[in-house]
Amino acid sequence: LAAILLALAGGYLCGSVPFGLVITRMAGLGDIRTIGSGNIGMTNVLRTGNKGLAALTLLADALKGTLPVLLALWWGRQNGMASYPAMAAGLGAFLGHLFPVWLRFKGGKGVATYLGVLLGLAWPGFLAFLVSWIGCAAITRISSLSALIATIVVPIFLYVLDYERIAVFFLVMSFIVYAKHHGNIRRLINGTEPRMGKKRDQDG
Ligand code: G3P
Repeated sequence: LAAILLALAGGYLCGSVPFGLVITRMAGLGDIRTIGSGNIGMTNVLRTGNKGLAALTLLADALKGTLPVLLALWWGRQNGMASYPAMAAGLGAFLGHLFPVWLRFKGGKGVATYLGVLLGLAWPGFLAFLVSWIGCAAITRISSLSALIATIVVPIFLYVLDYERIAVFFLVMSFIVYAKHHGNIRRLINGTEPRMGKKRDQDG
């Protein structure tokens, strides 16, 4: 239990670093939370018009999920444990991104960190995410919709591949992603969700 709690806490600390906010602030773009959707993720950084910073945000927000998972996997193997510490580290990183103590628990929507945790825990699921996200984005150019489709595909795909425990784990994470996208889902239904490459006013 101590190992699980330690992995959860370590993951949380990594995940709670709001890279989108830090990177855009360092680039002199001000507070990303006052732009576009107000979110701190890659999609909203893209709305500043700077594709390089958006890519960097995606990379950093994903890796802060991958690294704690890989460390916990390695540690678990040394100590004869199953993947539970790694899942705890991944969940911690994901929750850290969503609810960072540094931003009074108001963080991002978790898509990039979900992807990073997936890379660490089950790389075939990572590929399934990429294929479905990129496929949907190529057709619709809507980032949130692509994430909502990819997070349905992933647990089903993992289940079919017999990653049963990890499939259930990602099903829970997908539910949380959906809960965090309630504003996006409302706009998707209204037909007002913006496409990538266009600007919009702050709306949460
Ligand atoms: O990953 C976040 C994305 O799905 C939606 O971001 O800024 O359009 O709310 P945003």
